[in-house]
Amino acid sequence: MNLWIILIVCWYGILCEVGCRSVHRYKQAPQNLFDEKNKEHWQLQAQWTLRSKVLAPLNKKVAKNVILFLGDGMSITTLAATRAYLGQQRGLNGEELKLSFEIFPYTGLAKTYCVDNNVADSACSGTAYLTGVKANSGTVGLTAAVKRGDCEGQIEGRHSVTGLMDWAQRAVKSTGLVTTTRVTHATPAAAYAHSADRRWEADTDLPSKGPRCDDIATQLVRGRIGSKIDVVLGGGRHNFYPKNEIDPEGYSGYRSDGVNLAREWLIKKKSQGRTPKYLYNRNDLLNLKVNEYDSLLGLFSPDHMPYHLEADGDDPTLTEMTRKAIEMLSKNKNGFFLFVEGGRIDTAHHETKARKALDETAEFAKAVEAAVRMVDAEETLIVVTSDHSHTMTYSGYSKRGTDILGFTNKLNASDSLPYTTLSYANGPGYKPHEKFLRHNLMLDDINHLNFTYPSLVPIVRETHGGEDVAVYATGPWSHLFTGNYEQNYLPHAIAYAACIGNGLTSCQSL
Ligand SMILES: *[C@@H]1O[C@H](CO)[C@@H](O)[C@H](O)[C@H]1NC(C)=O
Ligand SMILES: *[C@@H]1O[C@H](CO)[C@@H](O)[C@H](O)[C@H]1NC(C)=O
Ligand SMILES: [Zn+2]
Repeated sequence: MNLWIILIVCWYGILCEVGCRSVHRYKQAPQNLFDEKNKEHWQLQAQWTLRSKVLAPLNKKVAKNVILFLGDGMSITTLAATRAYLGQQRGLNGEELKLSFEIFPYTGLAKTYCVDNNVADSACSGTAYLTGVKANSGTVGLTAAVKRGDCEGQIEGRHSVTGLMDWAQRAVKSTGLVTTTRVTHATPAAAYAHSADRRWEADTDLPSKGPRCDDIATQLVRGRIGSKIDVVLGGGRHNFYPKNEIDPEGYSGYRSDGVNLAREWLIKKKSQGRTPKYLYNRNDLLNLKVNEYDSLLGLFSPDHMPYHLEADGDDPTLTEMTRKAIEMLSKNKNGFFLFVEGGRIDTAHHETKARKALDETAEFAKAVEAAVRMVDAEETLIVVTSDHSHTMTYSGYSKRGTDILGFTNKLNASDSLPYTTLSYANGPGYKPHEKFLRHNLMLDDINHLNFTYPSLVPIVRETHGGEDVAVYATGPWSHLFTGNYEQNYLPHAIAYAACIGNGLTSCQSL
């Protein structure tokens, strides 16, 4: 009996710390059940996994609440490497660790290609997993009838698509959006905007000739869906302030139309009889009394929020924003839909700064864990996924527990020069050969925060990858997320579980 309790505690994901810490100290005979040299260790672990799957009941309740977590660019390789990164920080080998959502009972694989391109960008991908319709790359909230940059196609209106945000709002649920990027960036924009080009975040970004399309920031404040989102937390403040105005932290705005959208948001909410709060620093967020407000706009940074490894005390973490959003949204007895993006995993990969990418993924996993602790698992569907992969590989045959951000240590390369466990197929980490020999990485400071991991092909910004992304689900109808499917299936399954939207729902009979 006691043994089972210890095993349950040990294998319950990241709670593994206490027991497993001693594993690698035993050099000779296996001494206890935590020792990987002991066959019982593996047998009991597998038996426990089996037992929990056999006993798991199917949850067919209505999902009152839904939280969709999106790790931007969070490939399966990124997840495997982040286990080692987090585990090694905790004094473990690392590979055996489970990220918070890797203990979810159901997993699947989503195919991410866009209608026009084989490798997705965040815009077409966001449109797929938020509205249920695949689109062209670079476009958000529009069908593939609209090509990137086709402003007329955007204005026409009949090609617009809406999804989870809209459906939840129509069901009188509260809705929220949390991201570490600009709140107008492609991924969050796909939740509320229709834009023929993801770059049209402020009016300044629109083409100077031809018809004028609504920029994304304007759609967040004035749009039918954007204006109804109850909680918006992230970066991108400059897209809400005019060029000739200084924001509360002293940065100039970026808008050309002279409109202060942050002020307009406040005035508009008040005129609707609501109690809004506009925030721009971490302290105000942490001290906010959620019962005093019903609408929240938090813009913590002029641009993207900083990387967690570079943040100062003024920036809330993804976990802090997620917690506050859940507190706010949980007040609605009809439930809520919350979309949370860990957006800087992707930007770090584009720079081939693997250290930052893994750290952002670890932060993302912490936010999921915080959410799991706050909600009732019986009535809350939590889905964790990614929009597309990247070109990072995890290779070599190093010994267990080898620094995931360091060199491989068992087999030399054919040129006798060392190579790193993580490397990229393309990107800015390319170094030209010297006298026909690969660059010697021993000459670099690979422990530097900004070290760019090696790339085979030189490209200023590393590209996305085209393989499937993982989907993890827990809560009502989470068993619908098993298998391999197109990415645009996700919102259909979520809507089914939550009884929202125009498609099939669990509240109707088949
Ligand atoms: C790797 O190269 C070094 C230096 O050339 C050599 O001492 C070592 O034995 C090699 N290791 C393996 C596993 O081949
Ligand atoms: C890393 O690069 C960023 C710019 O991308 C810079 O602001 C920061 O100071 C650098 N960090 C270190 C430790 O050099
Ligand atoms: Zn990207």
